[in-house]
Amino acid sequence: MSVPRKILVTSALPYANGAIHLGHLVEYIQTDIWVRFQKMRGHECWYVCADDTHGTPIMLRADKEGITPEALIARVHGEHSRDFAGFHVAFDNYHTTHSEETRFFANDIYGKLQAAGLIEVRAIEQFYDPVKAMFLPDRYIKGECPKCGTPDQYGDSCESCGAAYAPTDLKNPISAVSGAVPVRKSSDHYFFKLSDPRCQAFLRRATREVCKAQPEAVNKLQEWLGAEDENKLTDWDISRDAPYFGFEIPGEDGKSTGKYFYVWLDAPIGYFGSLKNLAARRPEVDVAAFIERDAATRAGTEMYHFVGKDILYFHALFWPAELEHAGYRIPTAVFAHGFLTVDGQKMSKSRGTFITAESYLKQGLNPEWLRYYYAAKLSGSMEDIDLNLEDFVARVNSDLVGKYINIASRCAGFISKRFDGRLDATDRSATAEFNSAWKSEEIARAYEAREYGKALREIMRLADLANQYVNDNKPWELSKDATQANRLHEVCSTAISLFRDLTLYLKPVLPKLAEQVEQFLNISPLKWADIGSSLPAGHRINEYKHLMTRIDSKQIDALVEANRESLAPAPAPQPHSQQRHAEHQQHVAGATAAAPSPRPSPVKGEGEDGGAFAPEIRLDDFSKVDLRIARIASAEHVEGAEKLIKLTLDLGTETRTVFAGIKSAYDPATLAGRLTVMVANLAPRKMKFGLSEGMVLAASGEGPGIFLLSPDSGAQPGMRVK
Ligand code: MSP
Ligand code: ZN
Repeated sequence: MSVPRKILVTSALPYANGAIHLGHLVEYIQTDIWVRFQKMRGHECWYVCADDTHGTPIMLRADKEGITPEALIARVHGEHSRDFAGFHVAFDNYHTTHSEETRFFANDIYGKLQAAGLIEVRAIEQFYDPVKAMFLPDRYIKGECPKCGTPDQYGDSCESCGAAYAPTDLKNPISAVSGAVPVRKSSDHYFFKLSDPRCQAFLRRATREVCKAQPEAVNKLQEWLGAEDENKLTDWDISRDAPYFGFEIPGEDGKSTGKYFYVWLDAPIGYFGSLKNLAARRPEVDVAAFIERDAATRAGTEMYHFVGKDILYFHALFWPAELEHAGYRIPTAVFAHGFLTVDGQKMSKSRGTFITAESYLKQGLNPEWLRYYYAAKLSGSMEDIDLNLEDFVARVNSDLVGKYINIASRCAGFISKRFDGRLDATDRSATAEFNSAWKSEEIARAYEAREYGKALREIMRLADLANQYVNDNKPWELSKDATQANRLHEVCSTAISLFRDLTLYLKPVLPKLAEQVEQFLNISPLKWADIGSSLPAGHRINEYKHLMTRIDSKQIDALVEANRESLAPAPAPQPHSQQRHAEHQQHVAGATAAAPSPRPSPVKGEGEDGGAFAPEIRLDDFSKVDLRIARIASAEHVEGAEKLIKLTLDLGTETRTVFAGIKSAYDPATLAGRLTVMVANLAPRKMKFGLSEGMVLAASGEGPGIFLLSPDSGAQPGMRVK
């Protein structure tokens, strides 16, 4: 192997106010696999993470529980650490952003940005809750939509008409924290001047590089940055007023400012905080080599961030801009992944598919089943990944138990019973054939590119070959014939040797199982360099104990049942903990509506998936709605509209123009030609961008994603839907 690489790897820091669920695990398992692979390859690789502990939701949650934020985050730190360990996610350090290390870097980065002239103080007016005596983030304000008048909308966008607005535009606003009528109040805020030509030039140059592994991410960046002559990035509000749980922004000469760093300012800095904290324990960790910009100090180190697509914006734009202008190194790459769906739908509490890590483990399910299934589905792209529960059972049982484990379970017994646990030399001709079939560098390349599905397909192909070998040689028959003892010994030893190789390839995905196999085979921990060597004749293995059971689909039913919550309306309007990044759009100066997408859409207080059902109607109520099949004749971007796509709809006899709030989910280029369903008798509405003559139908839930309806093939434009 060439010179070992020096790699720093992070996963996003989970918020300290919610439980780890199977959606989160898509990220942590995928990062862990990559890190384990790098370590097996002999590289120096450090995997750091932490809890993201600051911000209004955590402060209010602690308040509600009647404990201090410090007590809340300490408890959650324990829960998160337990859950990650339960899924064998092996961080080198799991720290907290509420730490002196993170404070140190936050102050340093802020100070350097200030010295570079990139921080500006500006007064802005916001809603203030006079009862709670606090400024209200957008998601803690509700009121009537300023465009269509729908009541009970959150402060940034309307669920009903899709309009985006500033919270101060809401009619009859109330505070979701206390129910009080908020008042407008002005205060000074600190802005990071992303609109500065230096930032713009830097981002255009550098972030494409950071995202180059993923063309979808590059497209997103392009959309966020706009054309060369546009200046779409506006300044970023990085301060919040007290009361706020976070770090106070240092004033000149140590004076107090009474302002706090906005959580998204210090969150990624928590990566560095965690690294520094690790170095205090592990002197071989050279912090400077990983974070300093100076090329000589940094000599060849690499830094990678694994993140969900919902937070790409922060990692590909804000974070590199902060680092660059504060004199730190920027990420080598950001790897964004998609969201988890369960049985094709967003995780849902009412369906029982909002499954926590804790409940999965408590039900006695094997964490490596899930690691394997996720890995089999991951491709290194930003596409969402689906956990299909039926397929999960089938795939794990057939691949892991039926193919892989089967090899050992059919051959190991003969070695212990007949040959005193000692292996014979392997079958030469078979081994030569297998060696030429092994595509170990291809498997390595697939792991490196995070195309785990591809790696596993290749590994399972080899498992098929190994099973074929066992089937062809039938040790159970050889064992009945005393003259075939040597052949029996050779065949079983060969199969065990193949099993060892498969274990090696699977080890990043199935670390615990690999450990059991190492124990069984009586060998030292498998590393990539062991490929090509084989277990010597005479090597003694331990007795085979069953390595993995099959999943019984009843276990999955029980898991879903245990996670199911009733559809009963929740009591108080309480902003949901999943409304996580909503706050980041607040006070992007001059462009409150310029929200990056995708991001979770608003939820009401009534529960998940759109909440309780609407009151009963009669058939004739429904018949009033004239639904028609429409062909999207053309679809275009709307200049200046963040959420809208302009659709020209062909109804067979006429065409209509409809502005649809689906831009976060669809590229206009992919829409033209497809069929959908529209409300054809909706009163036309005058919008800023023109007249909208109807509405297309789409599904959406609490998480990201908008799903346009389509009819089965055969439907024609103009047909009525009833
Ligand atoms: N605290 C921020 C990240 C700060 S990083 C400096 C945050 N926390 S989170 O708990 O909401 O999410 C943590 C990670 O899990 C994010 O990368 C997010 O995209 C990912 N996921 C959360 N839910 C997910 C799914 N349902 N599916 C896949 N990944 C998901 O964001
Ligand atoms: Zn509206």
